[in-house]
This record gives sequence, structure tokens and C-alpha cells, in this order.
Amino acid sequence: MIEFIRGLPKAELHLHIEGTLEPQMAFDLAKRNGVALPYANVEALTQAYNFSDLQSFLNLYYACMDVLRRSEDFADLASAYLQRAAADGVQHVEMFFDPQAHVNRGIPLRVVIEGLSSAASAARERYGISVLLIACFLRDRPATEAMSTLEALAEHRDAIHGVGLDSAELGHPPSDFAEVFAAAGEMGLHRVAHAGEEGPPDYIWQALDVLGVERVDHGIRAAEDPALLRRLAVDKIPLTVCPLSNVRLKCVENLSDHPLPALLDAGVVVTVNSDDPAYFGGYVVDNYVALQRAFDLDTATLEQLARNSLDASFRGDVRGS
Ligand code: HPA
Ligand code: ZN
Repeated sequence: MIEFIRGLPKAELHLHIEGTLEPQMAFDLAKRNGVALPYANVEALTQAYNFSDLQSFLNLYYACMDVLRRSEDFADLASAYLQRAAADGVQHVEMFFDPQAHVNRGIPLRVVIEGLSSAASAARERYGISVLLIACFLRDRPATEAMSTLEALAEHRDAIHGVGLDSAELGHPPSDFAEVFAAAGEMGLHRVAHAGEEGPPDYIWQALDVLGVERVDHGIRAAEDPALLRRLAVDKIPLTVCPLSNVRLKCVENLSDHPLPALLDAGVVVTVNSDDPAYFGGYVVDNYVALQRAFDLDTATLEQLARNSLDASFRGDVRGS
């Protein structure tokens, strides 16, 4: 079954590149850059991967990314992920990154984008994999900061394909970012947003109706709202679902409690993704395998999920991909 899943052509549409920082690489980069990590060794860091909710994960995620300082660091990080993704049958990646998480600690935006872009070009040559960058705004930072970030991104317009919204969801509704998403739309950027991971279905409605998103990241709490399920199905708004993440962050207790079957039954376009694979115990194929086992999915459903990921991607925009 693993080989069947690995062989399915697929796209990964919900992947935070900073969330691919494996503990060993965190220590290697810490050494290379003379940065002290607040953990004695790889084992101690791995022990800390015992999250109680989204915020407890984010605290560690932001702490670890302090080792990313130079373009080479971002390039090495992305290259390691892309090599793995290619081996998992991933043909196309829409890679999230968090500009504010780097710029706010003094790393120029140019350094981040150059590093990621160089890894993307190398991976296209080596594996034929295509990569689009999606810059996510941190929703627990002020909307004014998101707007200045968008202005800074405008200087790298050619390297950026879309914008997203991530970080701590509760208490930070999508509507706070109406203006910045409108401005991004005017720049011709694609729009996606995390919504309904921990937050209520109303945040998903806002992402659709206020931000005008084309896909919803996570969106699992849509399962609580039949009218919203109908809206997603009728308008063919894909959800980028990340099952192992949902279990690790305790959005669902067990994988068997995951709303995937309800979403599929409602006719929603579901895609399977890894979110932050270094932290959540699995890359994209591991997520498919876990779902297959939890729900005894047949090969036709697995093929449909993989096909959905390619159909839901923005790669049709890109010549030659
Ligand atoms: N949710 C919100 N913000 C994030 C996540 C996530 O799963 N991963 C990285 N930033
Ligand atoms: Zn995410």
C-alpha cells in the first residue's frame, strides 16, 4: 500500500517550509551559525514535541527557526524537503513561508526568498518538481504589520505566487485581514488562509466571504456546519487537510475521530498534506497511509485524493509545469 501511495502523482499544497526543520538539521545549523538552541541535544529537542494545542507547537516552531540565518540555510532546508517530497511522488509543491517570523528577528526578506528560490530551481532541474511560494501573514501580529509585509513582498513580486494566513487562530479572525487580502488580490496574488483548524466554522465563512480565498487550509471544523459544507462542495473550494497535524495538535483526539469521511461524503474537494512534517511525525505519504489505515480507504479514494491535490493547485498558471 505504501508503494501504491508513493507512486500516485500528487501535489503538496499545505507545507510550511520552516516546519520541515528536522531536529538534527536544527542542531547542524545552530552549530554552523553559532546559535544556542534552548535544548541540550537532538533527544532533548525531540522530547519537547509533545504538544497540547496549536500555541504549544508554535512556541517551539518559532524558537527553532532562529537557526535559519543565511540564504544557504533556507536553501538547505528547502532542498532536504524537496528531495523527500520528490521521493514521495510529489510533482508540485505550494510552499508556505512566514516572512514576518524572519524579518522581525533581523533576517532580510531577500535572504529568505533567495534561499528558497534557489532550492526550488535546483529541485526543478534535479527532480522535475515545480514549486510556488506562498507568503503567509502571522494572524497574531497586527494587520498593519501584514500590510507592510505585503509592501515588502511587492519588491519580490515575481518570486511570490500567493499569500496565506497562519499562526495562532483563536481570537484572530480572518476579517482582521480584509484590507491586506484585498490589496494582495489587486496585485494578482492567489489567496488562501488557515481557518477552522482550532477556530470556529465562522472563521471559514469569513475566509471565503471577507478574504476571498480560493482554498481553505485545514478547514476541518466545516464538518460542524452543514450549510458551510454545501458551500464548499458547490463552489469547489478545496480544503488542505493535514491529518497527522490535527492529531498531534489535539484538534481531534484520535485519527479515527477525524472528520475526513464526513467531508468526503459532503462532496468537498479534500487534499492531503503534511503541514509541518518534522514536528508532526510524518511527511505527505505518511499522512495518506495513516488515513488509509484509519478509514480503510480504497485505492479509488486514494487516487481521488491525489488527483484533487493536482487539480486544486495553482500550477496551471505556470508555463511549462
Ligand atoms: N497552523 C497555524 N499556523 C501554523 C501552522 C498550523 O498548523 N504551522 C505553521 N504555522
Ligand atoms: Zn498549516
